[in-house]
Amino acid sequence: MSIEHEFGGQHTEIKLSIVDGYLRAYVTALRSKFKHLWYIDAFAGTGGRTVRTEARGGDLVESPAPEAIEQRRGSAQIALDVTPPFDFLLFVENNPNHAAALHELAAKHLQRKIVVAEDDANAALKALVTANRWNDKRGVVFLDPYGMEVEWSTLQALASTEAIDVWFLFPLAGLYRQAARRLVDIDASKRASLTKMFGSDSWEKELYPIASEPDMFGDLPERRRQLDPRGLERYVEARLSQIFGHVLTPLALPVEKNPQMFSLFLCISNRSPEAIGLAKRIGNHLLEPKRHRIVSSTMK
Ligand SMILES: C[S@@+](CC[C@H](N)C(=O)[O-])C[C@H]1O[C@@H](n2cnc3c(N)ncnc32)[C@H](O)[C@@H]1O
Repeated sequence: MSIEHEFGGQHTEIKLSIVDGYLRAYVTALRSKFKHLWYIDAFAGTGGRTVRTEARGGDLVESPAPEAIEQRRGSAQIALDVTPPFDFLLFVENNPNHAAALHELAAKHLQRKIVVAEDDANAALKALVTANRWNDKRGVVFLDPYGMEVEWSTLQALASTEAIDVWFLFPLAGLYRQAARRLVDIDASKRASLTKMFGSDSWEKELYPIASEPDMFGDLPERRRQLDPRGLERYVEARLSQIFGHVLTPLALPVEKNPQMFSLFLCISNRSPEAIGLAKRIGNHLLEPKRHRIVSSTMK
């Protein structure tokens, strides 16, 4: 069975090339030091992705130009191709068709240790953290959700391992849509989703401060979000820094295009200066916005 999984845009190319670069540098640096190097893809997709581009025809091609359909590697395939190899890979996916495609991918690599879990990412990651000892392992988790699926308690579990680096495509647009300008406009379901994402309702007073001075009519002014999207990104970075050993300055995606939709974070759970130093050396270079300018200018 071959299944089409069409998603993303400019940010997808950049995100996957960054994760690819990180995984390759990571295993090269750590392969000889750790017996267990794990890759965990919590929103694994199908292993591939379908990209439709307008075919560039010559003069003879009548418009509309036909579409060219291309199959490119998704994150699971990218991780499988990394050398030296990871010795264990876990692909989590809650869509049965996507999970079936991942099983097919795993069947092509029977010599590798691959587990496909048809499960919810949050449940699978928490179970993984609890079921394993982490002092003899190092791992990379990739969190690549469509929206605001990642729960704070999952991030806390990952941070508690002190052994896992987390690449997190944070849905900034999802956040600023849920966190409406006026507090009164946030309904119960948005409120619940923000609380799940941040682990408590403290976002309410942090993002919507209560004015200390009443206005000229003696009323307290209505509570409004003071932060713009970049401010929200800094807020998320500060929150992640409270639980992880170190968090690198994220890359705003798409690059050089408004509105910003995502922030690509690298969060390091290990607290040792050596581990943080290594992740910073590799990650800061990959997250440098200047590196991605050429890519962005050639994309539609
Ligand atoms: C953006 S795609 C991931 C693409 C993948 N990283 C790649 O490069 O091919 C998000 C995937 O997460 C899956 N998904 C959505 N919610 C999920 C959840 N709660 N648990 C596990 N998988 C989920 C979707 O079915 C989809 O395949």
